[in-house]
Amino acid sequence: MTPEAPDDHWEVEALYDTCFAPGREALSSYRLRDGVPPVAGLSHVARDSGGILAGAIRYWPIRIGAAEALLLGPVAVHPTRQGEGLGAALVETSLAQAAPLGWERVMLVGDAPYYSRFGFTLLQDVEMPPPTNPARVLGRAITPEAWTGITGKVSRWRD
Ligand SMILES: CC(C)(COP(=O)(O)OP(=O)(O)OC[C@H]1O[C@@H](n2cnc3c(N)ncnc32)[C@H](O)[C@@H]1OP(=O)(O)O)[C@@H](O)C(=O)NCCC(=O)NCCS
Repeated sequence: MTPEAPDDHWEVEALYDTCFAPGREALSSYRLRDGVPPVAGLSHVARDSGGILAGAIRYWPIRIGAAEALLLGPVAVHPTRQGEGLGAALVETSLAQAAPLGWERVMLVGDAPYYSRFGFTLLQDVEMPPPTNPARVLGRAITPEAWTGITGKVSRWRD
């Protein structure tokens, strides 16, 4: 697994097109990514020994009020490589690097039955832009209690 490099960009886009339903960029989480660069160093790719792209994960910075957080995703593993633990490796390897980079909390929009194994739980008081199913808004603390008291609308990153 290696950090995503500029040359990986279009291959990762093609993988996401393969793995997600058409129109993925219409999702509200993409509005939080428009015009904002992904977090340097956290996005990763997994390739097989022949260099074929098997999986990828990206992260964006976001805000909830004044608080900073990571938005995990998209994460995808090629259909021919799913179920081998690559998804878990992408999530855990990348998140292990989030604390040293100073990030305190991470959230995502996804399936709780998958992400609960990584310690993600429902963020009841955090509001993604509509249309988002609130049952899919999940978070994990990187530093202890990092989600305590964090409430409100998720917004795009501004420096
Ligand atoms: C979700 C995804 C990244 C998982 O990658 P992976 O490499 O197959 O995952 P792992 O091998 O680490 O884990 C596989 C396990 O997760 C389970 N799983 C996968 N997707 C799941 C989901 N949406 N809900 C619940 N469980 C899920 C599998 O059933 C399997 O369970 P098992 O360990 O009991 O057999 C991959 O299936 C994928 O790319 N899916 C399409 C894109 C997508 O939905 N991305 C996530 C956006 S929220």
